[in-house]
Amino acid sequence: MKRVLFTVLTGALTALFVLALAKDTNREWTRYQRKFLGTLDRAERRGLRGGIQQILLDDLNRVDRCTTCHVAVDKPQLALAEEPFKAHPGKLLDWHPPETFGCTVCHGGQGIASEAKAAHGDVPHWEEPLLRGPLVQASCRSCHGNVEAIAEHVPLLIKGMTLFEEKGCYGCHAVKDFGQTVSQDLTEVGSKSYLLLEADFEMMRPPHDRIHWLKRKLAHPRTLNPGVPQDRLPEGEEEVFPSAMPHVGLAEDEIEALTTYLLSLTDADYPASYVTPPGPRPAVAYASPIEHGRAVFERYGCTACHGPGGSGGRMNFNAGLGQEVPPLLYVKAYYGNNVEALKTVIREGRQPAPRQDVTRPNPPLYMPAWKDRISEEDLDALVAYLLSLHDRVAPSAESAPADVASAPPADVP
Ligand code: HEC
Ligand code: HEC
Ligand code: HEC
Ligand code: HEC
Ligand code: HEC
Repeated sequence: MKRVLFTVLTGALTALFVLALAKDTNREWTRYQRKFLGTLDRAERRGLRGGIQQILLDDLNRVDRCTTCHVAVDKPQLALAEEPFKAHPGKLLDWHPPETFGCTVCHGGQGIASEAKAAHGDVPHWEEPLLRGPLVQASCRSCHGNVEAIAEHVPLLIKGMTLFEEKGCYGCHAVKDFGQTVSQDLTEVGSKSYLLLEADFEMMRPPHDRIHWLKRKLAHPRTLNPGVPQDRLPEGEEEVFPSAMPHVGLAEDEIEALTTYLLSLTDADYPASYVTPPGPRPAVAYASPIEHGRAVFERYGCTACHGPGGSGGRMNFNAGLGQEVPPLLYVKAYYGNNVEALKTVIREGRQPAPRQDVTRPNPPLYMPAWKDRISEEDLDALVAYLLSLHDRVAPSAESAPADVASAPPADVP
């Protein structure tokens, strides 16, 4: 009897051992390493280490295992033509050697993971998706505060920063110490937790990550936040308007650029030895006070609510003036003889905007106060610009897309 038991148990143990061995030698990464080694001759194999490769980055608080599979990123002489065996493009790894920078400071993802899906951040609850292709430019700002100095390497990021100003995002959102507080502060939107983002993933198709959520938000601000009309609510509860974020019809490439910029707004706080401080904002010489004022109008985000050139057309649910933010083409007629009153409106703002229907909630957009945010010099230039608007024709509908009120088709990605 004892002997039978002994034989059975030994058999079971051997089986378990073989199973474990098979599983271990059949890990995803061992398959890649075997395939890679198979392409090399003996001389080329010399000096290569197998097994899990691990870069410890104490200063950066990271452990990156990406080179376990990306075996040839820093060995162009051995690289193959397909991933994960390609050499790294460009000279980035010469400037940022893997042993001091690793990979995830630039690419995001999950450094410690040794399976591709997890390493690439493509698993639930991992909030740092892998940055592929030109989106990687989002990470450069966390160290290169002076983006201008590396401008030729980050065209998409710079385009995004420029668009953020041109489209008037500062009119409602602050980043660091500039911009309005009509809506969320975006200073850390690139690393804000998914819970705080109110990321309504259930309202969009996968992939459910920060990149795709931001793109979707920019393309169709109101579909992720459509509000709740009165007739769908119990008696006594107040209706909720759809998002007040204007739908200005951004083009695909504009969405890509703005997403890159938003992804660059993180709480990353690396040691000083990795970081270069931001350069000063270059001083601009304006041809006239009106040109100066136009620049102020755009940068401060007046465009966002009052339309390009003050031409109007932006939705404001339940606002007295046809549910829109008023245009500013007639400022001269109202305030031409009373410039101080105009300055007071800009300094103090007006809140809330008057309602069309007093039984419905206040309009979501109001004229914010700028008094602590604008210098006297900029204010004078702004006023000169506003008073010059009276004799301009509103920009054509093409160059100035009005707010797109309608929802997109139900199946937009
Ligand atoms: C288990 C193996 C494995 C690990 C670990 C791994 N990768 Fe990959 N990686 C792959 C494979 C396979 C591909 C090609 C398929 C794909 O694009 O998903 C790839 C693709 C990529 C690409 C995109 C290439 C392209 O042309 O689109 C990037 C960027 C990348 N990996 C970065 C990383 C980073 C950063 C890490 C570490 C956080 C990492 N990988 C960890 C296997 C791996
Ligand atoms: C200094 C930032 C930086 C570091 C560090 C870095 N990369 Fe990259 N990586 C980039 C940029 C930028 C690109 C080019 C993206 C493009 O196509 O425009 C790139 C491209 C790639 C690609 C090609 C696929 C693609 O998306 O274009 C792979 C794969 C990759 N990196 C993997 C790695 C791995 C693995 C490491 C760590 C050893 C690493 N990178 C470290 C910035 C970096
Ligand atoms: C973790 C911090 C960090 C990240 C992220 C980072 N860099 Fe760097 N980068 C450095 C440091 C440090 C140097 C070395 C500076 C020096 O030698 O003066 C450097 C050097 C460079 C250089 C060459 C020297 C120079 O200043 O012209 C370029 C170009 C560059 N980085 C571009 C990029 C790009 C593009 C990205 C994003 C894809 C990026 N870097 C991401 C820290 C970083
Ligand atoms: C007229 C005001 C207004 C303007 C202009 C505006 N937004 Fe918004 N934005 C909002 C409001 C209100 C919300 C919050 C409600 C919602 O999620 O839709 C919001 C939310 C966001 C969010 C989500 C933030 C979070 O933490 O959940 C992002 C990202 C964003 N806006 C980016 C932008 C960008 C980029 C621009 C410029 C193209 C812009 N916004 C212009 C009003 C505005
Ligand atoms: C978040 C949206 C928003 C932003 C940004 C904004 N405004 Fe307004 N503004 C309004 C609304 C709404 C009104 C109407 C207020 C009312 O009727 O009480 C208004 C009213 C005004 C008026 C008074 C118009 C009149 O007919 O009396 C002026 C002037 C004005 N804004 C200028 C500006 C300037 C200049 C900027 C940029 C510095 C700016 N606004 C930014 C929403 C905004």
